[in-house]
Amino acid sequence: MGIERTFSIIKPDATLANKTGAINALIEQSGLRIIAQRRIRMTKVQAQQFYAVHSERPFYDELVEFMISGPVVVQVLEGENAIAKYREVMGATNPAEAAEGTIRKLYAKSVGENSVHGSDAAATAAEEIPQFFSEDDIVG
Ligand code: CMP
Repeated sequence: MGIERTFSIIKPDATLANKTGAINALIEQSGLRIIAQRRIRMTKVQAQQFYAVHSERPFYDELVEFMISGPVVVQVLEGENAIAKYREVMGATNPAEAAEGTIRKLYAKSVGENSVHGSDAAATAAEEIPQFFSEDDIVG
């Protein structure tokens, strides 16, 4: 384990509801550091590539359209056991199943519009981070 990096996205439902700061506060309170951050509009191609692993799922087109429906904040988070820790802070993918106090319990509307994304494993983080950040963008 040790110090890890994970990739995070604050999704359009949350940015449009002005929850960026509240979500960042929960991230920082957990001890994770936001070591890179940028507010962008994802292109359709970026969203399709990012979620390519889900391209055969029935919700893929809806997911891509949602991710380009408004601004997102892409982030790199760093800390002890960052991947598992951020998954705890986010809560379950489906907000109906998310624990009290988690980002998704507090702010997410549905399994599709679920406020945040976080890498699910170290190998995924290593693939996701370079899609949006170069090493020069990351200040640890
Ligand atoms: P995320 O962690 O960004 O990774 C894949 C996303 O697919 C997931 O969060 C959800 O937002 C979305 N997703 C998963 N299941 C469904 C579903 N049944 N309907 C719509 N979107 C879904």
